[in-house]
Amino acid sequence: MTERKIETPRLILSHWTEADAEEEFELAKDPYIGKMCGGWHAPEDPEQARETIRTVLMKEECYQIRLKESGELLGCCEIMHQSRHGSPQDLEIGYWIGRPYWGNGYAPEAVKALVRRAFEDLDADRVWCSCYDSNMQSRRVIEKCGFSYHHSNENLFSENLNSKNFNDLVYVMNYRDWAEKN
Ligand SMILES: CC(C)(COP(=O)(O)OP(=O)(O)OC[C@H]1O[C@@H](n2cnc3c(N)ncnc32)[C@H](O)[C@@H]1OP(=O)(O)O)[C@@H](O)C(=O)NCCC(=O)NCCS
Repeated sequence: MTERKIETPRLILSHWTEADAEEEFELAKDPYIGKMCGGWHAPEDPEQARETIRTVLMKEECYQIRLKESGELLGCCEIMHQSRHGSPQDLEIGYWIGRPYWGNGYAPEAVKALVRRAFEDLDADRVWCSCYDSNMQSRRVIEKCGFSYHHSNENLFSENLNSKNFNDLVYVMNYRDWAEKN
């Protein structure tokens, strides 16, 4: 992998390494995080976190998010090449922030940087984001980043969401709309 760092005013986004396992475990062990991110299970120990880093997170467009000032690990964000929405060349963004760090605008800051990367460096025409309709926090992130509501996938079923039916809200951003404002 080509080493890459993406800087924002307060954050540094960089690739994951196995050395991040203990810190990743401390944030990702909160079961709510994985539940809201498509239903992955929380790691039970740092060894499981290391395995996830090695097999899932260590890839070109997946980034750990750290505070510039203190170096603390805040969470994760990713540009996904096989977007579940739109056409095959569209990109999709996913993200999570550890509970102790919620409410500081870190997710929108990281997501805006990934949107820029998707359009400027990866030549995307459209970038997608989605969240469960119950996930008000993520809805706010998506809105604050300037995505537009596109459609809902209704009555999906997930055992990991207490066996309730739920809706996935799908949002999009077009290159032209982004370029006009940036
Ligand atoms: C969604 C998430 C990434 C937001 O990250 P963040 O850095 O806290 O984002 P923000 O600081 O912009 O806060 C977003 C909204 O969360 C709400 N919020 C803020 N602090 C909160 C807290 N301590 N508890 C609950 N909600 C809170 C606010 O409504 C805020 O919107 P506002 O700025 O309009 O008031 C984070 O909550 C998270 O990781 N949740 C679990 C995983 C997840 O949902 N990932 C996205 C999957 S689609």
